[in-house]
Amino acid sequence: MNRPPFPAAPGRVLFSAGVIAARLDTLAAELTAFYREKPLTVLPILNGSLPFAADLLRRIPLPLHLECLSVASYHGAAQSSGTVTFRQHTLPPVADRDVLLLDDILDTGRTLHAVRQRLLAEAAPRSVRVAVLLRKNKLRAEPMEADYAGFDIADEFVIGYGLDYEGRYRNLPELRVITPPC
Ligand code: IMP
Ligand code: MG
Repeated sequence: MNRPPFPAAPGRVLFSAGVIAARLDTLAAELTAFYREKPLTVLPILNGSLPFAADLLRRIPLPLHLECLSVASYHGAAQSSGTVTFRQHTLPPVADRDVLLLDDILDTGRTLHAVRQRLLAEAAPRSVRVAVLLRKNKLRAEPMEADYAGFDIADEFVIGYGLDYEGRYRNLPELRVITPPC
């Protein structure tokens, strides 16, 4: 791909674009095998999972449906706010579908826990599983674990490939570790 270089970004590279792409190949193959013959709806949680979802979906050669949910829980700071706000009133139509929730990172677990609970209570899915690009190694605030994780990482602050610090850096092609504030 012929694209202009990014200006210097803060921190150190954790996973390069090439390493992410290789991991997505494996993850997508696993998901494809599991969801073959199932009525799959992939449900990315925006905004952070956008690049992950776009790259993962194009590696899954199944007749899947795509729906999106927009949820805010971090509000741009480096600490989780503890509240999960749904930005839309209605849930996507996933009745009798096998739902795969996608998120950028499993941190406290609050976001995915709130979304999964609400789907199960109100949207009658056939099943709900969870895939995250990153899984932080820490104690969760909610009983929430991922069924699939791209990478297990230490409890550090990560930017790039969808993840932001105060709204910036989502468009970096690689994942980097920073020490906020920066
Ligand atoms: P939760 O704490 O598991 O609910 O994660 C909430 C959200 O916080 C994630 O979807 C990310 O958007 C954000 N988040 C958590 N850890 C990081 C990080 O290291 N960098 C950037 N965003 C993060
Ligand atoms: Mg976020």
